[in-house]
Formats: sequence, C-alpha cells, structure tokens
Amino acid sequence: MYTDLLIYYFSGTGNALSAARWIAEHARKKGIKAEIIPIDRFKKITVPPAAGRRLIGFCYPTHGFNLPWYMLKFIMKFPISAHCDAFLLNTRAGSKIFGWYAPGISGIAQVLPALILLMKRFRIRGMLPLDMPSNWISIHPGFKSATVVGIVARCRSMAAGFCERIFSGRAYYRPNVFIMLPVDLALAPIAFLYFIYGRFYLAKVFIASTDCDTCRLCEIKCPTASIKIIDRRPFWKFTCESCMRCINICPRKAIQTSHSLAVIISVISSLLPVALALRLLDAYIPPALARPVDFIIEWSVTISTIFIVSGAVFWLIRVKIINTLFTFTSLTKYWRRYLAPGIRPKDYQTKSALSSSSPEPPSLR
Ligand SMILES: Cc1cc2nc3c(=O)[nH]c(=O)nc-3n(C[C@H](O)[C@H](O)[C@H](O)COP(=O)(O)O)c2cc1C
Ligand code: SF4
Ligand code: SF4
Repeated sequence: MYTDLLIYYFSGTGNALSAARWIAEHARKKGIKAEIIPIDRFKKITVPPAAGRRLIGFCYPTHGFNLPWYMLKFIMKFPISAHCDAFLLNTRAGSKIFGWYAPGISGIAQVLPALILLMKRFRIRGMLPLDMPSNWISIHPGFKSATVVGIVARCRSMAAGFCERIFSGRAYYRPNVFIMLPVDLALAPIAFLYFIYGRFYLAKVFIASTDCDTCRLCEIKCPTASIKIIDRRPFWKFTCESCMRCINICPRKAIQTSHSLAVIISVISSLLPVALALRLLDAYIPPALARPVDFIIEWSVTISTIFIVSGAVFWLIRVKIINTLFTFTSLTKYWRRYLAPGIRPKDYQTKSALSSSSPEPPSLR
C-alpha cells in the first residue's frame, strides 16, 4: 500500500542504523522506494516530495529511559505532516543471560515522541522496541561476538515480522508495549533526572589516553559535533549525547570513560554545602518560589562542578603520569568495545558536515 518510505535515524554504535537498513531492504523487496537518512548534525529539515503514499520511520536508541535529546529535538522540529503514516523504532539494551534474551526498558522513549507526532497530525502505524545488544560500554564490557550474533539475528527476524505487518497496511503494536506501560511511565522521573543531570555528567567523564595520535576520527564522526580537538586531544562538550560512537570507533582505543573522574566529581558534589546554603537562602524568598529556586541553584551548582572538575582534569592529563593514572583507573581500558555487526566508521555520514562550505548532511538539505 505504500510506495515511498523515509527513515530518519540517530545511531551511536549502529544498532538503530542496522534496524533502519533492514526495514529499508524489506521495503525495497516489496517494490517500495526507500531511503534512510541520518539526522547527524541536522540544521534545517527539508522533507523531499513524496512519490506516492508515504510512510515515515524514526529509528533511534533509548538513552536514560527516554529518546536521545538530539532525536527529540529533531522530532519536535519535524514539519507537521497531516495524515502521514509514521512508525517509531527504539533500539534498547538487549542482553542474553543463561540462554534467555533479556529485554531493555523503553521508559518514555516511545510514548513521548508518539505524543509529539500525534500533535503534528501523524498517524502512528507501529511502535517497535528492538532489544539489540547493549552498547553502554561505560557501565559494562561489550558482549562476546557469539552473544551479539544471537541477539542481532533475533532482532532481525522481529524487524521482518514488523515489516510484513506494517507494509501490508496493518498496524503493529507489541502487547508488551502496553503491559510495560505502567512501568515505563513510572520511570518518567528517572528519565527526567537523566535528561537534566545524567547526560551532562556522562559527557564529561570521557578522556583520551596518551595513545591518542590526533587522527581526528572521533571529531569527524561525532553525530552532534561535540568533540573539539584542543591541544592535540579531544575535548568533549556538554552537547555530547553519550551515544558511545567515539569510544567505539577510535582506532587506537584511546578514549576511555574515566571511572575515577566520575568518582571524583561525585565526591566533590556531595561535599559541597549546597543544602545548608539553600536552607539559609530559603528564609529570604517567598515559600511559593523556594522549590523552583532551589532546583535551579542545585542544577547550576552540579553542572558547574562537573564542568570545573572535568575541565581541570582535561588540563592535568597533559602530564603523562596523571594521564596514565586516569587511564588505568578507567574500566573501559580493560573492556571489550562494541559496534553493531557489519558497521564501520565509514557508515557514519558526518564527514561533509565538518567543512564550513557544506555544514549539513546532503540528504537533509
Ligand atoms: C547513555 C546510554 C543510556 C542508555 N539507556 C538505556 C535505557 O534507558 N534503556 C535501554 O533499554 N537501553 C539503554 N541504553 C542502551 C542502548 O539504547 C542500546 O544499546 C541501543 O541499541 C543502542 O543503539 P545505537 O547503536 O543505535 O546507538 C543506553 C545506552 C547508552 C549509551
Ligand atoms: S579517534 Fe582516537 S586516536 Fe583519533 S583523535 Fe580521537 S581519540 Fe585520538
Ligand atoms: S562525543 Fe562521542 S559519545 Fe558524545 S555524541 Fe559525539 S560520538 Fe557520541
């Protein structure tokens, strides 16, 4: 029933990209014209004219029980498309424990964009959470290749079932999307905390070890242009989405999540007498304003602490011995990395975005 499929995707380590490719491949076999478009470094969204009846897909990972801010921003800016059909596919942290395929948790990663798209008058035809191998190597080692292959094969067949249904005009909603809905909604406060604190904190605990040879691959391939090379080493900005691309594609495995830096930031934050200062301050402001003012001050203090401590460490690790200390106290130094099977750095189309004459991915112009 569809003649035209557009899939917009954001993908750190290639899981959402793989899913987008499978769906596009399936569509083409059915004679549907299919295009997949990275949203990396998007500026202006221009949707190409439809060649008949169109379906639009949005594929992205789940981050902190939510969708990445970058994808959310993209969906919020997406043009109103009255009566256009759409689907949402969020890849999650799948794993395999003693032969059992354990699912990830969506939180509001589907509900929130679905509501936004409904307000933009889209018709949501399908929502698929896909439990691809977890890529969160800041908190666990990458899985062994046999585990990865098993999880990916299972997801691929689920994606095929999704395509069969959706391309024949039927809606697709897995029952556990509804069964899990109360749990997903209950996680909304954590999704909010991740959104305002977590992602900034994670963005600032990346470091580059002395193995870095300034090849700039991480800078060129970052989907959000969040790496700046300063003094021949990558510096991570607050816009980083912690998508895990840079740490997994670095040819020299020089990027680490510094667990010792994470501990230092947490200890310094907990030692600051913020609660005492707020109690004193609250005596001078109207009670109705106390909570929002406290919240803004706490947030500013936390973000400033993260910025100052990580900034200081960025300069300190120019000293080889300090760098070695931080590198060897990073668990990622000892952990396996992860990229979805078949995905290579060249699959990320962000290079053109670096040149000032061509600031946007061509497919979005
Ligand atoms: C910072 C971060 C947060 C994550 N949060 C969640 C989560 O809340 N729920 C979940 O199921 N998976 C979570 N994951 C795992 C990813 O969503 C999952 O591995 C996804 O398939 C990665 O897709 P990609 O390779 O396209 O980026 C998280 C991963 C990262 C890096
Ligand atoms: S990809 Fe690795 S080696 Fe290259 S600049 Fe980035 S951190 Fe350094
Ligand atoms: S800096 Fe690294 S983790 Fe952050 S958005 Fe860019 S590629 Fe992803």
